[in-house]
Amino acid sequence: MDTLSFIRQVEDTFTCYWGGHFEVVTTFFARPRPREQLIAWLDLQLYKEIHVVPGKAQALIDMYEKLDDEAERGEYEAEAYELADEIQHYRLLADIRESITGKKLKATETRPTAEQLKLEAVRRKYDTEGPLVRAVGGFSPGGGVAFAAAGSMIGGGPIERQLAEAFKIIYRQELSHYSYKRLLFERLAWDSDATEYDLAIQYARELARQHFVLRNESFSYPLAPERVAEIDAGKVTPYAPPRLY
Ligand SMILES: [Fe+2]
Repeated sequence: MDTLSFIRQVEDTFTCYWGGHFEVVTTFFARPRPREQLIAWLDLQLYKEIHVVPGKAQALIDMYEKLDDEAERGEYEAEAYELADEIQHYRLLADIRESITGKKLKATETRPTAEQLKLEAVRRKYDTEGPLVRAVGGFSPGGGVAFAAAGSMIGGGPIERQLAEAFKIIYRQELSHYSYKRLLFERLAWDSDATEYDLAIQYARELARQHFVLRNESFSYPLAPERVAEIDAGKVTPYAPPRLY
């Protein structure tokens, strides 16, 4: 397989499932839902935003030791901003959760769902592979771009309006994380041996699908199994994040 076809195949796999993320969010907010479903989604989303923070903070400490030696200072800066962005997403959504429930949820008491644990297992499975395969993991913020783009347009009441504003901030930041990681992936694709392509495609399929399945679970399954099967078969409007510049 040539490099361009490989990049196209990985991209198509993700953009189809990102169309699925978009549909999950627009379907969920298309009609009134029980408040418990919104709170359940917020609880999981808070976990997703905050549980990565200790690992990212440790990575910054580790990089400090190598700064301007093995670690490039621009990369260090990008990692630091990404850490701050996740904390901001957490704060925005935790504020909304607190205004709905009147209660605080301790960060360390947020819990993953069954599908979130499966997503983490998919990531771990490919964690020890080569740089190109691992770079496929950098496509993951694209699902965040799709879901936040859909969320930016929701309306209904005061909570939905606050959520839409939070989604706009999340959208802009996830788009810049995605664009940066996407560029790294393309560079690696051109530099890597074509024998690595098959495993990278396999990871792309598993990661894109599990991330989408998790998104549907997190919103209490607005898409029925029949619709999920259609999306698996590619019957969906793809979502491709716009170019940053
Ligand atoms: Fe985030």
